[in-house]
Amino acid sequence: MSRIAYVNGQYVPHGEAAVHIEDRGYQFADGVYEVIPIVNGKMIGEKGHIDRLWRSMNELKMDAPMDPGPMKIVMREVLRLNKVETGLIYIQVTRGVAPRDHPFPDDAISSLVMTAKKTSLEAAEKKAEKGVGVITVPDIRWERCDIKSVSLLPNILAKQQAKEAGAYEAFQYDEDGNITEGSSTNAWMVDQDGTLITRPTNNSILAGITRAELLELLEQKNMKVELRAFSVEELRNAREVFLTSSSAYVQPVVEVDGKPIGNGQPGSISSELRHIFKDFMQN
Ligand code: PDD
Repeated sequence: MSRIAYVNGQYVPHGEAAVHIEDRGYQFADGVYEVIPIVNGKMIGEKGHIDRLWRSMNELKMDAPMDPGPMKIVMREVLRLNKVETGLIYIQVTRGVAPRDHPFPDDAISSLVMTAKKTSLEAAEKKAEKGVGVITVPDIRWERCDIKSVSLLPNILAKQQAKEAGAYEAFQYDEDGNITEGSSTNAWMVDQDGTLITRPTNNSILAGITRAELLELLEQKNMKVELRAFSVEELRNAREVFLTSSSAYVQPVVEVDGKPIGNGQPGSISSELRHIFKDFMQN
């Protein structure tokens, strides 16, 4: 079955979907996006993702292409047309088409593109059972990492470096030697005393929806979390490490910079949290 994309009011075959060469997303990466998981027909964290999309647009003084209500209808139509029961929906908004000039155009209309793709829970499960490796790299991004912008060059370079090192993800560290986040994931660790730690949200990281949902589940279960920055050194000496994102859910990390974490197997807390999160998504 051919995939269908939504582009500025039209549902078109994925292979034919296109935007204007003077779209500011293409010219300047002047755009924002969201990636939302769907599991067994249920959208996970829809409100959080929609709220964050609006926040990103507001922070960049970008007009919304439509109201949240109609947008949710388009999202469901994209999922229906692509027969996605478990997968991801991608939403991108840019400042629209205008002759190339750095200042905001006076009268451009924001562009809206949506695509959906199927993913496999089983594949994610297999990966989680084995765990993945991460490397650490300097965070060379800007000071507004709280905005989910399509300007992703530093993230792409970090992820490529991870790939070339045979790792799944690159955890970035700031000038103080503290981990900020992964190139497309949030970072967590468990110290030798069993304390769960993740960085508090501010402009230095994206406020991950998976991170927020997991924090809420932890609170419901009376499981304590320390919200503080942790160093590369602490990460390397952690009892357990894991990462969260809309596409990886809760993913155990078993190696940092080529060295095993613990016994090199997914840790018990990471695995428990993965199951708790899986239950949350499936119920
Ligand atoms: N990435 N940090 C960064 C820099 C991200 O790009 C993402 C999401 C996250 C995790 O956020 P969430 O839990 O809301 O997905 C953290 C998406 C999946 C992506 O770029 O594909």
